[in-house]
Amino acid sequence: MDLGIYTESADIYDDFELRGKGTSDITNQKIINILEKNSVKTVLDMSCGTGAQAIALARHGFDVTASDLSREMIEITKTKSKGLAIQFNVGDMQYLDLGKFDAVISMFNSIGHLTKEQLFKTLVNAKNNLSKNGLLIFDIFNRDVMPLLPRHKFIDQAREEGNQFLIRFTQFDFSRPEGILNTKQTLLIQKGIGKTKTINREYDLLTYKRKELKFMLGEAGYHNVHISDHGLADFADLENPLVNMLMHLVVAVKLD
Ligand SMILES: C[S@@+](CC[C@H](N)C(=O)[O-])C[C@H]1O[C@@H](n2cnc3c(N)ncnc32)[C@H](O)[C@@H]1O
Repeated sequence: MDLGIYTESADIYDDFELRGKGTSDITNQKIINILEKNSVKTVLDMSCGTGAQAIALARHGFDVTASDLSREMIEITKTKSKGLAIQFNVGDMQYLDLGKFDAVISMFNSIGHLTKEQLFKTLVNAKNNLSKNGLLIFDIFNRDVMPLLPRHKFIDQAREEGNQFLIRFTQFDFSRPEGILNTKQTLLIQKGIGKTKTINREYDLLTYKRKELKFMLGEAGYHNVHISDHGLADFADLENPLVNMLMHLVVAVKLD
C-alpha cells in the first residue's frame, strides 16, 4: 500500500485538508449525532490521520482509540491531542484486533485507498472490533457523481494563512476502469517572501456505487445498512465548490 502522500507530507496535511474548510466540523457533528443516538461510549477510528474526527470525538467525551497505518500521521494526532485521553495504535485497518468498541469509524475516503478485496477484508475484520449492536461508520466517494468532476486542471485552494501562502492545483482523471479516481496535484507553499516549496503528487482512490456497497456489506455479514449522501444541503453555504461536487456516501451499519 503506497502511503507516500501521507507519510511524506503529514506536516502539511492539515494546511490543505483541514484548515480553511468547514467540512470537518459538519462531518464531526453528523458522526456525534449518530453516536449519541446509539448510546455509543467507545470509538475506534481505524484511519485517524491527523485526528480530524478522533480529537473532536474525544473532546466531546467519547472514549477514543485512534489508529492509522501511517506513524507520521499518528504522531501529529498525538501532538495535537495533548491532554486528551486518546489511545493510539499504528496498524493496517484490514487486520486490527484492538478489543470491542461501540463504534468503529473510518472517514474522509480512507477506505478508497484499499482495493475491493482489501475493503472486504476490512469490513469482515471490523466486526471483530465491534461489540454487540456496534456501529460501523465510513464514507466514500460516490461513483455516480464522478463523471461530473471537471477534467481540466484547476486551482482548488488559494489561501493566505498567517505568513504562509497556500495554493493547490488539482486535476482529476476518472476515465480509468473499475471506478478509480486518479488525482494529480501540485501544492505550492510559501512562507513570507521565502522560496516557494513545490510538491507534486498523484494518487488513486476507489469509488463505489451505493448498490455495490450494500452488496459488499451484506456479503461481509452486515444487514442493517444505512447509506446516505453526505447531504448537499449541508454544504450549500460553503464557498468551496469542489466540496459541493465531491459528494460522499456515508455508510452507517449496525451489527444485528
Ligand atoms: C484522507 S486521510 C483521512 C484521515 C482522517 N480520517 C481525516 O478525516 O482527516 C486517509 C488516512 O487513511 C490512512 N490509511 C490508508 N490506508 C490505510 C490502512 N490500510 N489502514 C489504516 N489507515 C490507512 C492514511 O494513512 C491516512 O491517514
